[in-house]
Amino acid sequence: MNFHKVKQLRGKITIPGDKSISHRSVMFGSIAKGITEIHGFLPGADCISTIHCFRNMGVSIEQHRDSVIVHGNGLHGLKKPDSILDCGNSGTTTRLISGILSAQNFSVTLTGDASIQKRPMARIIDPLRMMGADITSINHNQCAPLHINGTTLHGIHYHSKVASAQVKSAILLAGLYAEGETCVTEPYLSRNHTELMLKRFGADVSSIQTTATIQPATELYGQKILVPGDISSAAFFLAAGLLVPNSELLIKNVGINPTRDGILRVCKAMGGHVTLLNETTTGGEPACNLLVQSSELEGITIEGSIIPTLIDELPIIALMACFAKGTTIIKDAAELKVKESNRIAVMVNNLTAMGADVEETDDGMIIHGGKPLHGAVIDTKLDHRIAMTFAIAGLLSDGETTLLNADCVAISYPTFYEDLQHCIC
Ligand code: S3P
Repeated sequence: MNFHKVKQLRGKITIPGDKSISHRSVMFGSIAKGITEIHGFLPGADCISTIHCFRNMGVSIEQHRDSVIVHGNGLHGLKKPDSILDCGNSGTTTRLISGILSAQNFSVTLTGDASIQKRPMARIIDPLRMMGADITSINHNQCAPLHINGTTLHGIHYHSKVASAQVKSAILLAGLYAEGETCVTEPYLSRNHTELMLKRFGADVSSIQTTATIQPATELYGQKILVPGDISSAAFFLAAGLLVPNSELLIKNVGINPTRDGILRVCKAMGGHVTLLNETTTGGEPACNLLVQSSELEGITIEGSIIPTLIDELPIIALMACFAKGTTIIKDAAELKVKESNRIAVMVNNLTAMGADVEETDDGMIIHGGKPLHGAVIDTKLDHRIAMTFAIAGLLSDGETTLLNADCVAISYPTFYEDLQHCIC
């Protein structure tokens, strides 16, 4: 797919449902009693992988145009699947489901695509084993495929080395089934959708600073969930609206949970004009519309506790930094190396190919802004967020930008290119 420089962006975009919340709605609905009705569900390939896994374990899940209906089997109602569970490209599916599967009364094998089979699973295998789980990496490389023999679990207090909502959630979900209390302390607070949502489903969960605690549950209860739009998808339009001259975009239905809103704080610190309008609560999560106007940006340093709140937005933030005055330093972001691709290496290689002045560091990047970009052939490495970042880069660059495997955006934002096209004047 090819992209060229544009003069202006104008219009309104309604952002599709949050990926993290969509996954959790299906998972928690499946192990709850009664019906969970999900509105605004993200029909991205990752969330569809979660639906397939739970259907395969005997849960009836109906997908309609505007809603997904989960007929929950209750906490102990999942059935042994008749085949290997395929988590596709989804780290959230693989890691969260492992917490649930560790406590079932059957054994199961789960795997995913080539990217999933390279992503680190020791981060969930180790704590789940400490809880008593029988979980092994079939190829002995601490990656999927994983084999899990469901068994009885006991609570632990786990101190995680990484701030990861997937790790925290896997442990808390196992904790639902464990004997005694389960606590997870992380170095910085990661996204807290699991804690907020499990509480709504009836679990006894509490949080103090960076520690989340869960008590064993006897039953969860189906809920009606309105999924807010995904700020990680909105981020591409935020960047495009700030960087393309004479632009103004109204980005509607954006979830702004404080554990996810680091991109807004970065836009402000860089001097970007982003206004929050119609602030409301959607499905227990804060949400709003965002008005973004073209702005002159300045380089900043991004490090420490803000990193988990914008971890998926760092590729597009790196692009913003290329157009900012001065230097932007991204630190404490080594986690980027173990996402759908090595996002530090892939960003640095592709931005360099387009003429940017960017250096790779051990835990991030240093970007010297202000060099004009030119088109190039971009290998997306089948990483949805890399594809969307370089589609926006193409709108800002001289010449032609060609994305290889551009359709991987379907993982998190199936209508991304259509929505972007509608804003081009
Ligand atoms: C997610 C957590 C984050 C994020 C991913 C979704 C989640 O991963 O990058 O896209 O839904 O819990 P980590 O927990 O590994 O940081």
